Amino acid sequence: MSGFPGLRLRRLRRTPALRALVRETRLDPGSFLAPLFVRSGEGLREPISSMPGQHRLSPDQVVREARELAARGVGGVVLFGLPDAKDGRASGAYAADGIVQRTLRALKEADLPLAVVVDVCLCEYTDHGHCGVVDGEGRVLNDPTLELLARTSVSLAEAGADVVAPSAMMDGQVGAIRDALDADGRGEVAILAYAAKYASAFFGPFREAADSAPRFGDRRAYQMDPANAREALREIESDLAEGADAVMVKPAMPYLDVIRAARERFHAPLAAYQVSGEYAALVAAGERGWIDLRAAALEALTGIVRAGADVVLTYFAKQAAEWIAESREGG
Ligand code: PBG
Ligand code: ZN
Repeated sequence: MSGFPGLRLRRLRRTPALRALVRETRLDPGSFLAPLFVRSGEGLREPISSMPGQHRLSPDQVVREARELAARGVGGVVLFGLPDAKDGRASGAYAADGIVQRTLRALKEADLPLAVVVDVCLCEYTDHGHCGVVDGEGRVLNDPTLELLARTSVSLAEAGADVVAPSAMMDGQVGAIRDALDADGRGEVAILAYAAKYASAFFGPFREAADSAPRFGDRRAYQMDPANAREALREIESDLAEGADAVMVKPAMPYLDVIRAARERFHAPLAAYQVSGEYAALVAAGERGWIDLRAAALEALTGIVRAGADVVLTYFAKQAAEWIAESREGG
């Protein structure tokens, strides 16, 4: 009886009810975070050409979008800001009336049942598009950048962020931010560390959306080499030691092995970011009729969760929440 013909694995695949009964992984919109791009204005919903279905929103529209996400059971939002002006010191990132700070205050007023996470980086705010301070030779300087990331995090915490998510890949950024938050009396604000963030070609559409492409060079001297998995575990280990409350692997689908390895070694909540290029590739193939977008997107998200992600940052958050609700109703 140990093998075929007694053993028939197809038995439990015969009906939808049997398949549902033995399903190992279920998608829950409550574990999704929806990335949102915010720029100044009123009533603004500017389509992002590299990411069909996504928009740059003015703060009032972020509140509207967040309300819809909450109504669909999505867990939270991750804010990215497009400032009115950029400079060498990324001053828009930590301005008290900065675009994200203003949006946070509007969201706080709306009091929605959502986790409000903010990406902390300088690349959207620097005139050169790098994630840190740059010297005369174009080198991205680690330690002077820490101070600005810490200052940005404090400013965002004061404006109402629940979670700050540093993504600059500077060594020591988590510790610097934790110290600064605690010194400002913001001990309750959590840190989601973009711990293992790779120098990925899949960020392309985002850089158009957020106007954050480096004006010279690339990010390979600070983001991780896609070939390395053990190094990702060292990044995660050091971020947890510096006080990260949760850690992230990014992108998601090309790095499922890293997600799985992190899940097995660490007990902190683990997030994975299905990035702009993953989204754009699926949407483009769907538009051409080459894949069924709904099935493919849900399959990709299921794979990310099956690999071990507790939280998924995904541009499909709202749509996937709708698809999941429909399929529960038998759609
Ligand atoms: C900022 C940041 C980037 C992304 C998230 N935070 C871009 C980058 O590192 O160039 C990419 C997200 C995506 O592609 O969806 N550092
Ligand atoms: Zn950056």
